[in-house]
Amino acid sequence: MIPIFSPVPQYETLKNSIDKALLEVAASGQYILGAKVQQFEEEFAAGIGTDHAVGVNSGTDALFLALRALDIGPGDEVITTTFSYVATSEVIVRVGARPIFVDIAPDTFNLNIEAIESVITEKTKAIIPVHIFGLAVDMTSLVELAQKHHLYIIEDCAQATGATWHGQAVGSFGHFGCFSFFPTKNLGALGDGGAITTNDPNLATRLKALRVHGCRPDNRYDHQESGINSRLDAIQAAVLLEKLPHLETWNTERRRIAQFYTKAIFNSELKNFLMPPASAAMTSLHAFHQYTVKVKSETPDARNRLQEKLKDLGVIAMIYYPIPLHLQKTHQNLGYHLGDFPVSEAVSNQVLSLPIFPGLTQAQQETVIQALEKAVPSVILNPSVC
Ligand SMILES: Cc1ncc(COP(=O)(O)O)c(C=O)c1O
Repeated sequence: MIPIFSPVPQYETLKNSIDKALLEVAASGQYILGAKVQQFEEEFAAGIGTDHAVGVNSGTDALFLALRALDIGPGDEVITTTFSYVATSEVIVRVGARPIFVDIAPDTFNLNIEAIESVITEKTKAIIPVHIFGLAVDMTSLVELAQKHHLYIIEDCAQATGATWHGQAVGSFGHFGCFSFFPTKNLGALGDGGAITTNDPNLATRLKALRVHGCRPDNRYDHQESGINSRLDAIQAAVLLEKLPHLETWNTERRRIAQFYTKAIFNSELKNFLMPPASAAMTSLHAFHQYTVKVKSETPDARNRLQEKLKDLGVIAMIYYPIPLHLQKTHQNLGYHLGDFPVSEAVSNQVLSLPIFPGLTQAQQETVIQALEKAVPSVILNPSVC
């Protein structure tokens, strides 16, 4: 079975250094925050090109704490895409603010910047762009728009560590960049982890307080405001420090796999049934967290059958995401309905993500294409065969 993702090849490549780093942390007695976390924060910030990075427990907490550090809460509105993982919108609700969704562009799957201006009100405080599947949002246009309306930008970079927009890393454009080190991510830990990047020293200090219950930096039992427990473990920082120097190579490998899939689709009958993802080579470096095709069909049936058939043929493909955020039950009180965001709704019926990860062999990539060539005609041209 070819999985959609496996962290094992990465671990095997770095086994000796990761094992050594883990044992060093075990022997050090410093398991939470401390020198390893600080070293990782410095190296990660340098890699992204920001002055500060603050290590936290997850990408979700990174987003939550970014909103808290900007004092966004009840009565405020935050604009974001309706096509993302639920963490993006859930945190807006968690701080007491209201998510205001916008639709996406059909080729990039990223939020449609042109749709933003019409939903800005006097309550709007921030925009959360999501660099979905590893493809950078047009940050030139978005920063210009946000400056015009005096809005904060909190970049959701969970899926895009190492992606760039005109040569500049995502996470360095907004007031905050929020990263996830969940094991499947481009830079993955051996458990949960996250970080927030920023160029603002005051915001960095506030974040460092908020991640430890709002305590003062010089007195951990003097609490200035209520925060949460969201500290990065030294073990995760040690692993991330070993992996960080390889991120660029791994992202290049992801792009190479993506190129192989795209060429194979365009050079075969598959192009009549599948639309490969945008590569955006001119403006940005895609981090290809996911390689997501669109099945040329209006209902989800053909896509769902294709996923099943691929599984029978030994290939795991996943649907990211089958339900846009505005139609999630958890957001039913926001008053959105089917039909509000037609592009996201159509895309949710069409998307299918194929295996992509560093260490996916050439033979496995060829097997994925062969499986598609077998599966597509039977499920799309002749559904009764299934
Ligand atoms: C777009 C997006 N935002 C936020 C998150 C949350 O990250 P974490 O799982 O580290 O909390 C994820 C994780 O899947 C994500 O894909």
